[in-house]
Amino acid sequence: MAIERTLSIIKPDGVAKNIIGEVYSRFEKAGLRVVAARMLQLTRAQAETFYGVHRERPFFRPLVEFMISGPVMAQVLEGEDAIARNREVMGATNPKDAKPGTIRADFAKTVDENVVHGSDGVETARNEIAFFFPQTDICARSR
Ligand code: CMP
Repeated sequence: MAIERTLSIIKPDGVAKNIIGEVYSRFEKAGLRVVAARMLQLTRAQAETFYGVHRERPFFRPLVEFMISGPVMAQVLEGEDAIARNREVMGATNPKDAKPGTIRADFAKTVDENVVHGSDGVETARNEIAFFFPQTDICARSR
């Protein structure tokens, strides 16, 4: 297993539910370390760029509207197999398919508002991390 970094976002519904701490606690219990974090209000252009891969999908417009409906919390998570581990902790994209005890099973109601986003592969993680964080804002854990 390799030490990886992945991009995680607590979406506007998660921030509005005031569960940032609860979500972070689940990351930490799963052995993931937060090595960068920022809260921000995405612009429409930023949301469209970030989710550009979904531009042709029917859910693209509502997804962009949702992602700019309030602030998000973005973080870089680090740990062994961080990309897959984060996806396990999040649960399936559609909360109806998410295993009990996952973030989406416990806190999300619909696929449109599913509390968290996580990178789905090594290349995506690299690009998504760079979208939110300059290299100098990522803090290697020295202890
Ligand atoms: P996320 O992992 O952030 O990536 C794209 C998002 O689009 C996804 O989570 C869902 O919140 C949203 N979405 C809405 N409808 C669908 C769908 N039918 N399939 C996949 N993602 C969807």
